[in-house]
Order: sequence, then structure tokens, then C-alpha cells
Amino acid sequence: MMNKPIGLFDSGVGGLSCVPAIKKLLPREQIIFYGDTARAPYGSRSADEITAFSLESAKLLTDKGCKLLSVGCNTISCVALGALQDAFPGVPVVGIIEPAAKEITRLCSGKRVGLIGTEATVKSGAHEKALIACGFKGEYFAKACPDFVPCIEAGTADGEAFEAIVRLSLDSFVKDNALDVLVLGCTHFPFIRKHIEKLYPHLTVFDPAEALAAETKRVLEEKGLLATEPCGRNIYLASRQHETFKKFVSEIE
Ligand code: DGL
Repeated sequence: MMNKPIGLFDSGVGGLSCVPAIKKLLPREQIIFYGDTARAPYGSRSADEITAFSLESAKLLTDKGCKLLSVGCNTISCVALGALQDAFPGVPVVGIIEPAAKEITRLCSGKRVGLIGTEATVKSGAHEKALIACGFKGEYFAKACPDFVPCIEAGTADGEAFEAIVRLSLDSFVKDNALDVLVLGCTHFPFIRKHIEKLYPHLTVFDPAEALAAETKRVLEEKGLLATEPCGRNIYLASRQHETFKKFVSEIE
């Protein structure tokens, strides 16, 4: 069991942004990634739909023998983590929200923290609840940015036209709330981090990928599931192998 793969999944290409952190912390592990690119984005869908699609992705990965599921998606973690844990009681399921909240609490005490994510993520209030549970001392703001994910999936998240979309979504959120920190509360957003940093150089940008990797490692250790030897090359699967998927996979491998 120890040398079986880790299953990592997302609605689309976003979860690929978590792979480098997991590879760095857990170099022996094999990852099977699954992106439901044919049905992304999930962020504007209903909770029932997000849950149903997530259960299908998780089944695909457990059928391939994955020993643990790491949810490389904030939307799924916010909406469907409990359903996933109930549906696969024999497989640990690690979400991204609580590990992120712990790190934000540790690093951002007294700061003005803004989170950007999908509509479903922001509507769920899951980050705010997790931050309160961690004893976060600071100001918290959240904003849904539904225009980014379709551009990232389509490979059009670049250039001046895309930066205009970013400004339209973020200028007043960053300025009116006098933010110090911007949390990338969607795993697609690390792929546009360079645009955010260019437009708002004073912000500290927080990407929860390392927190997810650390929690994945902690759970593997706790369950006695750490790989005992190098387990082979990662496998990248998608419901639609579009150009952006192939490009991002080639960049992280
Ligand atoms: N990557 C996802 C997240 O972290 C979801 C994006 C979407 O499908 O809308 O929330």
C-alpha cells in the first residue's frame, strides 16, 4: 500500500500548480493527477453538481489504486470535502482550506488579508470559518473572480487584454480594503501570479500549495503510508487533454 500513488485532482488545470510543492516535499511519491478539464470551471456550478463531479473524479483515482486523495482545488475542498471523506472511508482525503488557514494565521497576524477564489468558494465561507477556528488575528476580505479561470483554461490569460480583466476584478478590492496580503484561493491563480505581482507590487501573495503538500505529508506519515522507495513517474490525466493542460504538464515535469 505504501508504494501506491497519491491521487491529486481539480476541476481543471489548476491543481497542476500544486504538483511542484508535493514533488519537492515528497520526492519518492508517484502522483496521479486528474483534471476534469471537460467540465471546468466548477466555481459557478451548484454545490450538488460540484459534489457529484468530485465523487466521479475521486472514484477514477481510487479505482487506480491511489492510497490518498489530495484535493488540489479550493472549490471542491469548500463544497465537497465531507462528501468525499464519507464516500471513501478507507482512503484519507486531504483538503486545501484548513492547511492554508493555519499558514495564513501563522504568517499574517495583524495583516489585512484578501482572498480571491471562485464564486462557490467565496459563497461557502469555508476559509473564514477555518481562519476563525485557527484564531486568526487580522482583517479578512474575500472576492469572487469568476473571469480568471476560463481565460487560464483557454490559454488566453496573458497580455494587456488579460491584465485589464485583472485590474477590473482587483483594483478596488485591493485598494478599498488596503490589503497587505492576497491569498490565491483558487489553484488556477498561481498561473497568473506574475500578472498580479506586476500590477500590485506592494502585496504579499500567498499560494497555499506548500501548505497542501505539508498536510499531505503529515497525513501520509500519520497513516504509515509514506513511500519506501521511488515510485515512478507521475501520470497526468484529464477529461479533455487541451493545449493548456499539455503546456502546463510539460512545464512542471
Ligand atoms: N481550481 C479551482 C479552485 O481551486 C476551481 C476553479 C473552477 O473550476 O472554477 O477553486
